[in-house]
Amino acid sequence: MRGMDRDASLEPFRARRARLAAAMRGQGGGVAIVPTAPERQRNGDNDHPYRHGSDFHYLTGFAEPGAWLIVEADGTTTLLCRPKNDEREIWDGYRLGPEAAPAVLGIDAAFALDELDRVMTDKLADQPSVWLPAATPGLPQQLEGWLEGIRARARQGTEAPRTQHDLASVLAEMRVVKDAGELATMRRAAAISAGAHVRAMRFCADAFRRDASAGIPEYAIEAELLHEFRRQGADGPAYGSIVAAGANACVLHYVPGRAELRAGQLCLIDAGCELDGYASDVTRTFPADGRFTPAQRELYDIVEAAQRAAVAATRPGARQRDAHAAAVRVLAQGMLDTKLLDRNKVGDLDAVIESAAYRAFYMHGTGHWLGRDVHDVGDYRSADEAPVEQPDWQGGTIVGKPSRKLEPGMVVTIEPGLYVRPAEGVPERFWNIGIRIEDDAVVTAEGCDLISRGAPVSAAEIEALMRG
Ligand code: GLY
Ligand code: MN
Ligand code: MN
Repeated sequence: MRGMDRDASLEPFRARRARLAAAMRGQGGGVAIVPTAPERQRNGDNDHPYRHGSDFHYLTGFAEPGAWLIVEADGTTTLLCRPKNDEREIWDGYRLGPEAAPAVLGIDAAFALDELDRVMTDKLADQPSVWLPAATPGLPQQLEGWLEGIRARARQGTEAPRTQHDLASVLAEMRVVKDAGELATMRRAAAISAGAHVRAMRFCADAFRRDASAGIPEYAIEAELLHEFRRQGADGPAYGSIVAAGANACVLHYVPGRAELRAGQLCLIDAGCELDGYASDVTRTFPADGRFTPAQRELYDIVEAAQRAAVAATRPGARQRDAHAAAVRVLAQGMLDTKLLDRNKVGDLDAVIESAAYRAFYMHGTGHWLGRDVHDVGDYRSADEAPVEQPDWQGGTIVGKPSRKLEPGMVVTIEPGLYVRPAEGVPERFWNIGIRIEDDAVVTAEGCDLISRGAPVSAAEIEALMRG
């Protein structure tokens, strides 16, 4: 039974390696080299917590540092990993080791890392081409060393690969559509993140119920998120959590600090966990003490309507950029209605969109691919369509390939916002309000499924939760 379980859990990784091999066969064959991520020193004797390389883990499920995967076009797979070492395992923990790796990972053969140069020169010899993630620091130089080693054996009739291909784009294309197992993990990650947002809302509501004059430091709210992530088994945050009190919400990449959240302010939290190597990315904006002021509510409802429009535009066959266009239209109309933008200066809705005048209050995109990386890999442009003239979203136009069409199994974020800094001509009651609502959406056969909706979105639902 245990053996069967293991085989089943290895199957997605086996299938991905087989797809990679088939992709290489379709382009003349060769051998692919996939290193995992390096360990990174933090200071002194102290490393950053280790995070595997996303591509490497996608193909192996193996999370140890110091590992390489080699995939040949005929489907043969080879792993290099750290050897067993009683002394090091006392300090750093268990190592799988090359003896156990083939059975545990479903790989054909495994060698210790100190055989890297020998194994690479053997594997690369007489291959037509080498496929590697060329942007990996140091890897092209390392490859050159291996190729030199093969060229030195030329008199024995050995040839070095004549061409190099970028592996990153092949793997990105594979990763952009998620399989059922990946989607199940991402659903769980999004649900954990939604639970953390609910916890943070309740934490603030409780604190202000006890003491309406309280100030809650951003770091204390961040601690609630981290607590919930780990309590539910997530690896940790998928990116630096943003917890922004009041005006800090207008800083897009704000880092939470000692600023205190006060009654009457909004709190913007952009935080998502990573689970089994998959990210979630969720933003909620809520009133510190559980009640929106009229000005906050006015802008909040515009952002919520913009998100609804973007959700409706997220469906198979629609283009990835359609959601942004839909959100921008609602936000820009809202800016005119609320007089954030002066119609006498900027003109009507179409003029605001054409000139990109809305960028004064909405300056980022409405979504991105989500997967192993929070801004996941994958081309945003259609590979097989001719370039067209299109808006560059700065008020100009560019000629480029059209935005890519969405397909079932793709995962995107949908994250409109409004950010109002104090400025002349901007109604004062809106100053320092920053709002973003961000959900994670799986493209389905009919439309999309919002997998992070365990946290409330509408102003009424947020107020109800915080009252309870
Ligand atoms: N948290 C990063 C983003 O929303 O894109
Ligand atoms: Mn986010
Ligand atoms: Mn995002």
